[in-house]
Amino acid sequence: MFGLPCDYDSINAIAKEHGLFVIEDAAQGFGGEYKGKKAGSLTDIGCTSFFPAKPLGCYGDGGAVFTDDNATADTLRSIRVHGKGTHKYDNARIGLNARLDTLQAAILNAKFDIFPQEIDLRNHVALKYTEFLSALNLQLSAPSVPEGYKSAWAQYSLLSDKKAEIQDALKEKGIPTAVYYPKPLHLQTAFAQYLGYKEGDMPISEDCSRRIFSLPMHPYLETKEIERICKIIGNEISLTEVIF
Ligand SMILES: Cc1ncc(COP(=O)(O)O)c(C=O)c1O
Repeated sequence: MFGLPCDYDSINAIAKEHGLFVIEDAAQGFGGEYKGKKAGSLTDIGCTSFFPAKPLGCYGDGGAVFTDDNATADTLRSIRVHGKGTHKYDNARIGLNARLDTLQAAILNAKFDIFPQEIDLRNHVALKYTEFLSALNLQLSAPSVPEGYKSAWAQYSLLSDKKAEIQDALKEKGIPTAVYYPKPLHLQTAFAQYLGYKEGDMPISEDCSRRIFSLPMHPYLETKEIERICKIIGNEISLTEVIF
């Protein structure tokens, strides 16, 4: 989430112990790294999204699946086109219409060239946010990147009891913010019903959902814009109440 890969050594070890197959969701982490390996290459199958809000976005819907297992790759290629077999109109399995649209592919091809540079720029933007917010000297703990990780900085997110006030203050100045996500998974109607979850069952997730919000984040955010955003936050609240 937000650009950092999970601790896949731990997850893969648990999976191995129990004979499980691991699918990595690198939709927000694509461009990030974990112990020298790229996000998307850390488990049996890695998946990413090219939805425009993601670190590598196309201009509509798109995504990719990564694997280094040839048999899995063949199966995935078949599933992508209605479960095709060796002949185009022989279907070996029930598949999907999951082709990447040609126009989106062309856009991604061009954006791939500058993607590593854009990840560096996102890291620079994040660093500036952290610098400016820390300089407000308000015991702010900014989102951090653990040793051995590289973040793709899909989002720069803060937790605050004054989330609504900060969002309003920024909105008043024409600065958008977003909430990822207002409702944790276990309280989504689709899961809550059949798994029987209720409010209070996952207090940390629920607390994060209530207090989290994300600041504008893209590779081309200028330092003076970042500074202005941070100043508005500083004016709005005593940041002793903002933590991550
Ligand atoms: C972590 C994560 N996984 C999966 C998705 C789904 O991506 P898509 O809508 O392209 O399938 C998203 C984006 O919404 C996401 O942020």
